[in-house]
Amino acid sequence: MPALDISRLRADTPGCSGRIHLNNAGASLMPAPVLDAVKGHLDLEASLGGYEAADARAEAIQQAYVDVEELIGAPRGTVAFVENATVAFAQALSAIPFRDGDLILTTRNDYVSNQIMFLALQDRFGVQVEHAPDAAEGGVDAPAMAELVHRRRPRLVTMSQIPTSSGLVQDAATVGQACRDREVPFLVDACQSVGQLPVDVEHLPCTFLAATSRKFLRGPRGSGFLYVAPEALEQGMEPLFPDLRGADWIDRDLYQPAPDARRFENWEFAWALVLGTGAAAHYARRVGLEAIQERSSALAGHLRERLAELPGVRVMDRGPELCAIVTVAVEAREGQELVLALRDRGIHTSSVHRTSAVLDFDDKGVESVLRLSPHYFNTHGELDTAVEALAELLAAEGTG
Ligand SMILES: Cc1ncc(COP(=O)(O)O)c(C=O)c1O
Repeated sequence: MPALDISRLRADTPGCSGRIHLNNAGASLMPAPVLDAVKGHLDLEASLGGYEAADARAEAIQQAYVDVEELIGAPRGTVAFVENATVAFAQALSAIPFRDGDLILTTRNDYVSNQIMFLALQDRFGVQVEHAPDAAEGGVDAPAMAELVHRRRPRLVTMSQIPTSSGLVQDAATVGQACRDREVPFLVDACQSVGQLPVDVEHLPCTFLAATSRKFLRGPRGSGFLYVAPEALEQGMEPLFPDLRGADWIDRDLYQPAPDARRFENWEFAWALVLGTGAAAHYARRVGLEAIQERSSALAGHLRERLAELPGVRVMDRGPELCAIVTVAVEAREGQELVLALRDRGIHTSSVHRTSAVLDFDDKGVESVLRLSPHYFNTHGELDTAVEALAELLAAEGTG
């Protein structure tokens, strides 16, 4: 694997100068080609008009679909662009014809908004929700979850491959295979994985995969996408509320869903953001997803080691495989308070509160964590500066 040219990659990233961005799990820094794609289209819309600009860039827009499909090893016509990962997830969820008593099988680490949607389905339709057990080392026990797929015959199985609240990577492939064997729909939340590690729907059997642009993929805010497996399209799966982009009204009592994943889209589009997402997918492939994963997780490993040396700081990431999200609980300090103090020093981090990870944080016995999420363009020097800044903050508190 060729080494990454970090200086060149940083030179491509205007946001790298003057601050230390360790919030790539929140929203990463866009590289120049992504910014150019977004701004270029906004300029065109300003001069031509929105609809005319979309027509003028029809080929480039088509290429954005191809770039995202190639990023995840998906065949043509299987990606729908939507506003964000949550919308992608909800569109997929709405395609499942839930009945009273149906079971959704998920994990203890699944994303907060997904868990809230399951509870809403429980309230309205009497759907049951079961959380597969965690393994002793952390993260879902994938063989146990696969066994539950066989035994419990859920209506839907769903998993966040990487949660928002820790640096864990869950084994989605094992669960996906069990779902494929039993022909149970499998919905993967790959929001934190796309752009951080290779995601290939050939090796990760799934019916749906939801993702966002702005995180490790380094695309713009306000854009996301949904992969829909060809067999799901053939079986006629469609969202509960298709609109005139997702379907044609062909007779008084009849509509016809679009033949491809477009049936999960809706009509009004920020095409500038779609073009930016395509540019981000292209950029990530050029950098190389394996190299990205190797460097970002090595940086995170270094960060965990350095943070663990600080008094009163506990690294909270647990699991057989860890990624570029680092979470720490700091004695007597709220995550968000530390985020603001570090931001004052030009260091960008984020925090996660228990309300975003009730099951995980209750298991760990924490109320909030500070989350630091490096990406491949960060340097060891930046990480060391961030650790020293945190150490100073905590020492100042200690003496104050
Ligand atoms: C694991 C996971 N899934 C889904 C989402 C939601 O993504 P979006 O804000 O693009 O809807 C997030 C956002 O943090 C996330 O971390």
